[in-house]
Amino acid sequence: MTPRSASVYRCQQCGFASPKAGTCPDCLRAGAGYVQLVEERAVPARGPRRPVATQDRPRPLKDIALERGDRTPTGIGELDRVLGGGVVRGSLVLIGGDPGIGKSTLLLQVARALARSAPPVLYVSAEESAAQVKMRADRLGIAADGLLLWTETDLAAVQAHLDDVKPRALIVDSIQTVYLPDLESAPGSVTQVRECGARLMTLAKGLGIATFLVGHVTKEGALAGPRVLEHLVDTVLYFEGEGHHAYRVLRAVKNRFGSTNEIGVFEMGEHGLTEVTNPSEFFLAERPRDAAGSVIVSSLEGTRPLLVELQALVARASFGTPRRTVLGADYNRVCVLLAVLEKRAGVPLASQDVFVSVAGGGRVTEPAADLGIVLAAASSYMDRPVAGDVLVLGEVGLTGEVRAVAGLELRLREAAALGFRRAVVPASNITERGKLPLEVRGVATVNEALDALLGAGHD
Ligand code: TYD
Ligand code: MG
Repeated sequence: MTPRSASVYRCQQCGFASPKAGTCPDCLRAGAGYVQLVEERAVPARGPRRPVATQDRPRPLKDIALERGDRTPTGIGELDRVLGGGVVRGSLVLIGGDPGIGKSTLLLQVARALARSAPPVLYVSAEESAAQVKMRADRLGIAADGLLLWTETDLAAVQAHLDDVKPRALIVDSIQTVYLPDLESAPGSVTQVRECGARLMTLAKGLGIATFLVGHVTKEGALAGPRVLEHLVDTVLYFEGEGHHAYRVLRAVKNRFGSTNEIGVFEMGEHGLTEVTNPSEFFLAERPRDAAGSVIVSSLEGTRPLLVELQALVARASFGTPRRTVLGADYNRVCVLLAVLEKRAGVPLASQDVFVSVAGGGRVTEPAADLGIVLAAASSYMDRPVAGDVLVLGEVGLTGEVRAVAGLELRLREAAALGFRRAVVPASNITERGKLPLEVRGVATVNEALDALLGAGHD
């Protein structure tokens, strides 16, 4: 028996498909509650897809030559590093981020840079009017020659004109607002996003156009639309930042042409985004000198060490269960570290509220910041400052041991360049005595670190 209709019911959050209407079992299992599946008509067959590869026969790997000049640096150093050294011809890059974080601003600046190095560039705005984009361009002082703007939401129309325009770079702002007219579902639906993404991929690869897509992010922080879009594209970048701070971080979460560890740092100002080439200096700009509860740690992002200031405030809890509030670090990790501090070093925190935050709205995710968190809390509890010219590094284990961290030398060099003179590091890190740029003190336990920085007899 053949089904009467070819409809499928699809979850608009995760892309789960079912022949029957109802709620999404995957989302329910993942704790997102009952999400209704939405009916979708089957996509009409459009004949076989054009092969994406330039060669359609298997070839020996050693015979494949890389074309020179495949990568074009955009001239925006922070972006080029995240991309892996520039934008690759025929690649598809998705940039996600919260509304208002600056995606359109970033891409308009990218368009300006590419209009110089690889014109012409086509900017398809499917969200804002030409006047709105022009206003932004004026604010950014953009008057590039090779930059074409087109407010169009119909992707088929864009495709039809690509042959006349022959852009070397294409920007689509955003993937959720363009649509293909031969599909019945609304723009932004899973089918549209997936098919538009696939169409753009075919165009990018077939015509050798470097393509950037803007993607919206849901409340939960994932890119709206199906996961399949992230699988499809070559590179996924997230543009992040705290609403009230000017700095923005561009982070690669997937990159077929480079590492995913690199970050780019920008500052949003009156005239758009400017690169922050020395982010450590930026994060330490307002550091208080010799204040209890403030410790400088180093967080290694890719090949780049970032110095950030951790702050802790320990205050007597007024009633009930003491509070733990954490901004910019992992809450559970901080709770574990506070427990270690209490149990292994005897600092009584059970009746204390503890607040931990990363100054300047930054974020640390690395275990190398553990010892810094422990010391900041202890310093605030004892009301004794940690000296301002000391960098603190080390992962802390549950028995209070201080474990080695990666990239020690890199981190120390960055600190030395910024005027730090001493560092407290894991003892196991300094087994081979190389020439280190700072005066280092190795510690094996949390207690040794407390003695070294807050004085003996710390309890
Ligand atoms: P926008 O690029 O429109 O964000 P998105 O495309 O991610 O939604 O940027 C929006 C915010 O950036 C807006 O609140 C204004 C601010 N902004 C500046 O502060 N300076 C500038 O030069 C520009 C263009 C925007
Ligand atoms: Mg925008």
